[in-house]
Amino acid sequence: MTKRVAIFASGGGSNAVKLMESMQGDHPAMPALIVTNQPNAGVIQQAERFGVACEVIDHKPYAGDRAAFETEIQNRLIPYQIDMICLAGFMRVLTAGFTDHWSGRMLNIHPSLLPKYKGLNTHARAIEAGDKRAGCTVHEVTAELDDGPILGQISVPILSGDAPAKLAARVLVQEHQLYPAVLKRFATGDKTPIMRKT
Ligand code: GRF
Repeated sequence: MTKRVAIFASGGGSNAVKLMESMQGDHPAMPALIVTNQPNAGVIQQAERFGVACEVIDHKPYAGDRAAFETEIQNRLIPYQIDMICLAGFMRVLTAGFTDHWSGRMLNIHPSLLPKYKGLNTHARAIEAGDKRAGCTVHEVTAELDDGPILGQISVPILSGDAPAKLAARVLVQEHQLYPAVLKRFATGDKTPIMRKT
């Protein structure tokens, strides 16, 4: 059975676009829904462009009550019969109540070579540390932020004179390769990690 995927994004959604593009033909998954917490997110137009439904759930009215925000997300997902979730630049921390419910059915992409540099400003931190390589990771989501079993990683060199934005752009190109590749495998039940170096 084709897996029905909800993609969660907060920004422009370039990863969401690559995921939607990839789920075509006899792919084991299909894009059933985009979820965003940002009423002005670019990903809303992208969903329209692909003819994919979009639910906008602004987190601001739920300030201080993550559980209520997540209950609303769960309620909004119900009609779409979602099988799995791909977080793609979704900038809200999810509590254990949500991550446990979707355990084994929720992926995230993070712009670092996890377990290094969980959280924000990953590229600046990698440059600052004098690392030779940076990259991106797709992993299963658990209650711990940017943790959970690693399903794929692509590393890129850090070049001398790299600025965080330049490195971020180099890593993003690889994010766009990695996430669709991991999703395709994962949707068939294959959790063998994809590990690449560029
Ligand atoms: C990506 O770098 C992703 O790894 C991070 O946020 C960024 C989202 O970019 N979590 P986009 O919205 O997919 O273009």
